[in-house]
Amino acid sequence: MKTHVYRPLIVVLVIVGSILLARQFVVPPDFGVYERGFMYSYYRRSNEKEWEEFKVKYRTKQYCKDCHSDKYEPIVSSKHKVIQCENCHGPALEHPQDPPKLTVDKSRQLCLRCHAKLPYPTSLRGKLKGVEPAQHNPGMECSMCHNPHKPDMEGW
Ligand code: HEC
Ligand code: HEC
Ligand code: HEC
Ligand code: HEC
Repeated sequence: MKTHVYRPLIVVLVIVGSILLARQFVVPPDFGVYERGFMYSYYRRSNEKEWEEFKVKYRTKQYCKDCHSDKYEPIVSSKHKVIQCENCHGPALEHPQDPPKLTVDKSRQLCLRCHAKLPYPTSLRGKLKGVEPAQHNPGMECSMCHNPHKPDMEGW
């Protein structure tokens, strides 16, 4: 073989070699495939423990039931029963100790996150009842007309 073929080959070998060498130093020793095979593919085993220790900040609406029954009762018999209080008010892990009050966000953005009309034909997001933000009563808070804890439109 001519040397002009050898030379690029050497370059490739050197690159592959240095990648293999660098792996020895940068890949954590517990990186691998474990009992469940390729279901979770390659991962760091010590990462399992990190997620176990990760503190969940949400309590779900059962937790609000006794103290805020005036909001809980209407919402669980409304179309918003499928969403969580904390979806609009933020995480309640230590509430009412810390923070003593959760956020009350009256912005249009809060609702438009889910209700801005998006024509996604193949996604469930597209099936959510939506409005055109610029046309649907612009400049007014949604909760002036819609009760976030009982948004049902029957009887309108
Ligand atoms: C142990 C009773 C208790 C529980 C449980 C509780 N709260 Fe509260 N919450 C309070 C108290 C007390 C306040 C302060 C009320 C005040 O000062 O007007 C408060 C305030 C709030 C506020 C602010 C009200 C305002 O007028 O500014 C929101 C929003 C709220 N809570 C939502 C929730 C949600 C959502 C949950 C469930 C995830 C929840 N709370 C669970 C007792 C509770
Ligand atoms: C879709 C979003 C949304 C959900 C879900 C939601 N809220 Fe609210 N909440 C709001 C908005 C917006 C306001 C402010 C309404 C206003 O006064 O204009 C509010 C106000 C409040 C207030 C304080 C004001 C008041 O009227 O006393 C409390 C307390 C509260 N919500 C508790 C809850 C609890 C408990 C749940 C679940 C059972 C819940 N919310 C679910 C959006 C939501
Ligand atoms: C001035 C009062 C008013 C305000 C403010 C308002 N709406 Fe409405 N909304 C209505 C009325 C009335 C209807 C029913 C007639 C219609 O579809 O326009 C309605 C209908 C809806 C519907 C149902 C649409 C459907 O296809 O059935 C959704 C969802 C909605 N509004 C969300 C919102 C959101 C989100 C906001 C804030 C960004 C908002 N609205 C602000 C009065 C209001
Ligand atoms: C996290 C997503 C989410 C947020 C945020 C949210 N909604 Fe909804 N909303 C829903 C879902 C889900 C439904 C039920 C859709 C269904 O059953 O067709 C719904 C239904 C509605 C309806 C239609 C009820 C009917 O009879 O068809 C109105 C009006 C509405 N929401 C208003 C609001 C307003 C006002 C806010 C803000 C305060 C808000 N939503 C915030 C998810 C959301």
